[in-house]
Amino acid sequence: MKAVRFEKYGDIDELRVEQIAKPQAGPGQVVVAVKAAGLNPGEAAIRAGLLHDAFPASFPSGQGTDFAGIVDEVGDGVDGWSRDDEVVGWATRSSHAEFVVVPADQLVRKPSNIAWEVAGSISVTGPTAFAALRAVQATEGDTLVVSAAAGGVGVLVSQLAVLGGLTVIGTASEQNHDFLRSLGVIPVEYGEGVVGRIRDVATTGVDAFIDCYGHGNVEYGLELGVAPHRINTITDFDAVERHGVKAEGSAQATTQAVLTELLGLIAEAKITVPIDGVFPLDEVRDAYRDLEDGHARGKYVLGLDVVAYPGENEGERAGTDEGSEQAT
Ligand SMILES: NC(=O)c1ccc[n+]([C@@H]2O[C@H](COP(=O)([O-])OP(=O)(O)OC[C@H]3O[C@@H](n4cnc5c(N)ncnc54)[C@H](OP(=O)(O)O)[C@@H]3O)[C@@H](O)[C@H]2O)c1
Repeated sequence: MKAVRFEKYGDIDELRVEQIAKPQAGPGQVVVAVKAAGLNPGEAAIRAGLLHDAFPASFPSGQGTDFAGIVDEVGDGVDGWSRDDEVVGWATRSSHAEFVVVPADQLVRKPSNIAWEVAGSISVTGPTAFAALRAVQATEGDTLVVSAAAGGVGVLVSQLAVLGGLTVIGTASEQNHDFLRSLGVIPVEYGEGVVGRIRDVATTGVDAFIDCYGHGNVEYGLELGVAPHRINTITDFDAVERHGVKAEGSAQATTQAVLTELLGLIAEAKITVPIDGVFPLDEVRDAYRDLEDGHARGKYVLGLDVVAYPGENEGERAGTDEGSEQAT
């Protein structure tokens, strides 16, 4: 099968699409034919060697956490999954490939009305958003500030907070302001003077702050008078020691229950996951170039034989020739 690999830490050009052995399902494991696999900035940081102390890579390294796809093989002792089931899951540095193998409890069922590229790009951002909101004790009626509100995590944090009855102020560049307004978020331009601009729109003050960008945003929260225990950063980890704020993220909330709840909200159109671009596996470098440019609206995704929207998949779900080709 084809898989994204890198042989050493470095820039985007270290990424290669190689032919490697297809994984097999050991006891308790499931092999999934990947249809879509999202990109995350943390993967770029790992590849660049920036997270070596916390998450060392061994080489050759695979890449990718998020995925959605079709069950291809089920290992001994696995109950509940069968070949051809449509699933969403999370993997350890291996989902950017045609097939991925994971423990059976790292999968949940994919609702049929969710597009592959959406289903395949929420396993990191969704649980991270849940964890961050829980950490700041988000409560109906509160005013919450979210930095990088239009990004992969920020756009989910913002919508979940609006859904929970919070007033949400989100920082973003001007080009994302109408989009954020359409989600019920009050947009504020980031950059110099941002604290003043937030104060201008936060008529009853700010109760909680979720930082999805770093670079001083935790300090902005403190300047706005938010108590440290109601500030959560998903990226400025040193701020925990500096200021006693929280840094909860995917590690605290990546569970089948959270992922299922999130997929339910998407299936019911209560929240949306904007897709900024879908790239074929072979164009993984271009995909990371766009991601690392730092202005994603929602997600960039690798699409394998995608298949833009579920309506176009009818034949596949019915088990036509096209479907069996893709599952084998
Ligand atoms: N701890 C965890 O578990 C965890 C999990 C997931 C991600 N993360 C980390 O959290 C961060 C966000 O991840 P992500 O996936 O949401 O990233 P992302 O999708 O790449 O975020 C892009 C967003 O950043 C915004 N942005 C750019 N410059 C900004 C600035 N100066 N101030 C405020 N916002 C700015 C952009 O807005 P404009 O386009 O409007 O400029 C864009 O919407 C990354 O550092 C990632 O590694 C941590």
